Amino acid sequence: MQSILVTGGAGFIGSNFVGMLMKRIPSVNVHVLDAFTYAGDRDNLPQWVLESPRFRLWYGDVCNPDIVGHLMEQVDTVIHFAAETHVARSIYDNSVFFKTDVLGTQVIANQVLRHRNRIKRFVHISTSEVYGTVASEPMTEEHPLDPMSPYASAKCGADRLVYSYWRTYDVPAVIIRPFNQYGPNQHLEKCIPRFVTSALTGSSITIHGDGSAARDWVYVRDTCRALIAALEAPLDDLLGEVINLGTGNASSVNTIANKIVELTGADPSLRENIADRPGQVLKHISSTDKARRLLGWEASTDLDSGLERTIAWYRDNEVWWRKREWMSSVTLTLGDGNTVQH
Ligand SMILES: NC(=O)c1ccc[n+]([C@@H]2O[C@H](COP(=O)([O-])OP(=O)(O)OC[C@H]3O[C@@H](n4cnc5c(N)ncnc54)[C@H](O)[C@@H]3O)[C@@H](O)[C@H]2O)c1
Repeated sequence: MQSILVTGGAGFIGSNFVGMLMKRIPSVNVHVLDAFTYAGDRDNLPQWVLESPRFRLWYGDVCNPDIVGHLMEQVDTVIHFAAETHVARSIYDNSVFFKTDVLGTQVIANQVLRHRNRIKRFVHISTSEVYGTVASEPMTEEHPLDPMSPYASAKCGADRLVYSYWRTYDVPAVIIRPFNQYGPNQHLEKCIPRFVTSALTGSSITIHGDGSAARDWVYVRDTCRALIAALEAPLDDLLGEVINLGTGNASSVNTIANKIVELTGADPSLRENIADRPGQVLKHISSTDKARRLLGWEASTDLDSGLERTIAWYRDNEVWWRKREWMSSVTLTLGDGNTVQH
């Protein structure tokens, strides 16, 4: 790999990934394409990355084939993060989710196909949300697909679209399904940053439903290590494969809220249960076998130390998150006509 296109590289996972990639592979040139939606920010990228001669930042939409095609002429590898990513926002207004997540992925896949003589590897970032609630534990890559929100269904469409381009056109695709991420640079609309910043400001820590919904929480730097492994592992082992990235452990939202209260020293009475989110996934827990076998990867950050590091980052970066506070929740209308802030 000499030169890589990173779509959505100014978002949460993308920005963490770019910093780690450029440190670990000093020879690689990185082109980030980002539309700078409310979720993307140039400031997410470290200053040394922005100033590096190995780095170029492009403002543009993945749905635009001219821009994407132009960038594909300059790279040999593609990793596609760009997406609308918030489940609650997809319930509130799903139109842009299908445009960016499905049609944007179609544009990326079409341009990989058009430039298949140059593009050696195409890593598509999917999500564990495609599985819906766990049917059998732990969830392997063969677990049935049962997307339960517009976000999940859009990502599921994109995931299968990329797979079909491998089957039909032989594009050099690998599909990665990360489980729930947390860490620095994550928008306040997501559960852990919302809980942390609520705890730090003494605001209500609002828990959806009874808080028993459980997820496999992965610290973002562990995920970035896995993604670098997906760029470096022998291509023949990965072509057309789907790989879960999870820890193999599940913790409930109540456990997360309790740990954050404890680690920040917040008042436990800040915890407040509100109506559950429609289309809520009850449990995710990943199998770790395939990632270990194909990428030689396993998560190394336990939940307590990941949360400690995340809390420290939000404590040190109040200016960053205060700008996003107004978008930390979305108003949803439930089936009974009542509204709830999610
Ligand atoms: N955060 C998680 O827990 C999680 C878990 C599993 C998978 N994922 C997937 O990982 C990827 C990255 O997630 P994230 O949490 O970093 O998301 P994010 O919302 O923080 O960032 C998304 C980035 O994509 C950019 N973007 C959005 N629409 C675009 C468009 N049309 N053209 C170009 N850029 C556009 C945004 O500006 C932003 O920089 C997504 O594909 C997401 O589905 C996320």
